[in-house]
Amino acid sequence: MGSLESPVGYFFADVEGSTERWEKAPGPMQIAMARLEALTDELFAQHGGVIQDRAGDGVFAIFKLGNPLQCALEMQLAMQRSDWSSVGGLDLRIGVHAGEDVGDNQVDRVVANRGARIMSSGWGGQIVVSDDAADNFGTPEHAQLRDLGVCRFKGIKDALHLASLVHPALRRTEFPPLRSTLFDGAAAEMLAGPIFGRQAELSEVVSTLSQRRLVTLVGLGGNGKTRLALQVGAEVASSKPVCFASLEALAGPAELPVALASCLGLQLGRPFR
Ligand SMILES: Nc1ncnc2c1ncn2[C@@H]1O[C@H](COP(=O)(O)OP(=O)(O)OP(=O)(O)O)[C@@H](O)[C@H]1O
Ligand SMILES: [Mg+2]
Repeated sequence: MGSLESPVGYFFADVEGSTERWEKAPGPMQIAMARLEALTDELFAQHGGVIQDRAGDGVFAIFKLGNPLQCALEMQLAMQRSDWSSVGGLDLRIGVHAGEDVGDNQVDRVVANRGARIMSSGWGGQIVVSDDAADNFGTPEHAQLRDLGVCRFKGIKDALHLASLVHPALRRTEFPPLRSTLFDGAAAEMLAGPIFGRQAELSEVVSTLSQRRLVTLVGLGGNGKTRLALQVGAEVASSKPVCFASLEALAGPAELPVALASCLGLQLGRPFR
């Protein structure tokens, strides 16, 4: 975290739902993907990004010069301006991370792996930015970084503090929670400390949760229910998305649906269309 001596931006982008689109309309997808490639090539060239890899319908570029956040914003705006109706619409999810320069033509694989996970935790149309990227590259004009909290990813040792880059010209600025364990505030702090014992309870709750929709931990005040529940969340998060909704501040049961919906990024009271 913090300032890097020679920051390098790690930029990952990927098409949401591309497999289904290829299945449905391979011909139009071929044309759309060629257009997408031209669009991303042009923006990387403009902003100093050097492509390292194109895997499937995704792309990975590094930025030793220029600003990957600016590039990300302009890429989403260019996506919005283009007509993708031939393939039922097309949305990019973008992840931006940063690391120290490790030499000519070299990529820091640890940073790259994290960057890829950051990208794949996001949703179509979203730009997910790590604090390292935010600390070392300027936020584009009129853009804002919306805090997403501290996230844990399977296989990644450190928790990553992430934000969503939003801008008034972007069509979509509200997204569901990231596909990761998302713990912020007091929960993240509690989870950052070690857990003592509780291994038997931990495996019991994890296994019960795989068979039941609701598991309740009951015990005396302060005996470790919340700590255990958070640990369960961190374990289960390797196989499914996990959200933490603190109910401590609720005045009564009537507020429960709202608290759960807001944690899941759902809006209540609007008809589904
Ligand atoms: N197994 C554990 N290892 C490390 N710290 C723990 C453990 N269990 C509890 N703690 C710590 O003890 C404190 C109280 O635990 P916690 O908040 O989980 O209890 P609780 O049962 O949820 O309490 P309440 O009934 O007030 O909600 C916290 O600071 C928590 O981090
Ligand atoms: Mg508690």
